[in-house]
Amino acid sequence: MSGAYGGEPSHVTLSGVVRNYEGPPVVYALGPIDLEIRRGEFFSVVGPSGCGKSTLLDVLCGLVRPTSGSVHFEGKELHGQVPEGVGVVFQEDSSMRWLTVRQNVAFGLRTSNLPETEKAERVEHAIRFMGLVQFADHYPAQLSGGMRQRVCIARTLVLRPRLILLDEPFGALDQQTRLLMGDELLRLWRETGATVLLITHALDEAAMLSDRVGVMSARPGCFIDMVETGWPRERDSRIVSHPSFGTLTARLWSSLREESLKTMGRVA
Ligand SMILES: Nc1ncnc2c1ncn2[C@@H]1O[C@H](COP(=O)(O)OP(=O)(O)O)[C@@H](O)[C@H]1O
Ligand SMILES: [Mg+2]
Repeated sequence: MSGAYGGEPSHVTLSGVVRNYEGPPVVYALGPIDLEIRRGEFFSVVGPSGCGKSTLLDVLCGLVRPTSGSVHFEGKELHGQVPEGVGVVFQEDSSMRWLTVRQNVAFGLRTSNLPETEKAERVEHAIRFMGLVQFADHYPAQLSGGMRQRVCIARTLVLRPRLILLDEPFGALDQQTRLLMGDELLRLWRETGATVLLITHALDEAAMLSDRVGVMSARPGCFIDMVETGWPRERDSRIVSHPSFGTLTARLWSSLREESLKTMGRVA
């Protein structure tokens, strides 16, 4: 696809994407959305509860077809399945409690045709990368919430994704763990060179991690604000003490406040 960024093709392109859920009554969940995400960009989405964020992720990874419009990844239109090169970390902790950490991570490659040695190498690499070496033979119940989320991310990493989609992955974690997991995610983004799309309800997380943040309206979710943070690629959670951080977070909140009140049935 020809993109709007100095002739660079965009990595992911959504054109006129609408998604309704058949009724009755029909639920107008999403769109219309036009969006281009740059290759290697860290893009976050914030929006009020129920505005269609998870629907957007389902459409973006190809699992759900848009009611109208199209989604292209690396120039190819998505058709009902997650394409090679896309990794997804879903909203809930989806680690499997009956498998060890190593087996959970290997699960990501269960349908792959790679030689067994290559699979094993990728699993060990992802375990090391996510700091799980000491826990490789543990079961999820023996781990903290943060560690379980690392397992879910490692399971995606073995696929060597060029686009990583995450749906509120740190939602259930305490504030300190969230900040540290944010640092992990930034490291992963830098070292893999992947494009990252993060859905989060935490405005500070979006402001800290992203190159760009899209703010969504109440359902049906459309983008009502787009904020470039201007952060350098080398960054971590200490950026919260940067003078621009407060300004960015305040801008996100002022865009979102009215929409959040609408979803509570209140007038701004
Ligand atoms: N399978 C479904 N069938 C009908 N309605 C749905 C379905 N999935 C989600 N919705 C509705 O679509 C809207 C958007 O949902 P969702 O994308 O999960 O929002 P968010 O992730 O922003 O909280 C909500 O009103 C939700 O109730
Ligand atoms: Mg959701």
